[in-house]
Amino acid sequence: MEMSEKKPVRLIAAVCNDMGIGKDGKLPWSLPSEFQYFLNTVTSVSRPGKMNLMVWGKLCWYSHPESMFPLPNILHVVLSKTLSTVPDHAHFLRQDFDSAVRVAAEPPLSDLIETIWIVGGTQVYQDALKHPWCDLLYLTDVMADFDCDVFFPEFNRTLFKKQERFPGVPNEIQEENGIKYKYQVFKREAVDTV
Ligand SMILES: NC(=O)c1ccc[n+]([C@@H]2O[C@H](COP(=O)([O-])OP(=O)(O)OC[C@H]3O[C@@H](n4cnc5c(N)ncnc54)[C@H](OP(=O)(O)O)[C@@H]3O)[C@@H](O)[C@H]2O)c1
Repeated sequence: MEMSEKKPVRLIAAVCNDMGIGKDGKLPWSLPSEFQYFLNTVTSVSRPGKMNLMVWGKLCWYSHPESMFPLPNILHVVLSKTLSTVPDHAHFLRQDFDSAVRVAAEPPLSDLIETIWIVGGTQVYQDALKHPWCDLLYLTDVMADFDCDVFFPEFNRTLFKKQERFPGVPNEIQEENGIKYKYQVFKREAVDTV
């Protein structure tokens, strides 16, 4: 059996006042600078040649325009039990969350991949929150009400503690298109329970 090399599993999302994240298969808001922050975060690697893995639910994958791809330093895994071929611009198709994590943790890619970024939707976030390698949640607090039909799952805020400051993450309140928002990071404080 192949050895599995532990990789950080990190969630990234923007959530509004009631933890909503989506409406009608799209983002409920237009915040281009926040989206750029998302792209900068997930494409960041420690040195040239390294890569990150991005794990997508099927609807989330298809909600992004093809013009967004390719993203530098990223290999994409799409999760679906019904698709039979890897979607255009993606690299892997897997049927469950643990299989997606194994893409990064086992040879041949375990030497290459640094971070496993979880980009939603709800079920994928839920699975990731339960994973023992999950250490950080990057949650942008969109400080407004939006009508949403998809929500970020409840999580244990005793286990995942909001950081007062986090390296590389702006601390001041941002504003775009009349919407205030704040970048936040929650860090896992213990590893035994979720
Ligand atoms: N605000 C944000 O930061 C943010 C982030 C992400 C998404 N969103 C929004 O959220 C919405 C999309 O999220 P969603 O929750 O509706 O859908 P989703 O998770 O993107 O897609 C759901 C589908 O993905 C597959 N899937 C998901 N989890 C799986 C798993 N663990 N194993 C196997 N297959 C899995 C299934 O496909 P099959 O049915 O083919 O099996 C499932 O029907 C959009 O509105 C999007 O804009 C917002």
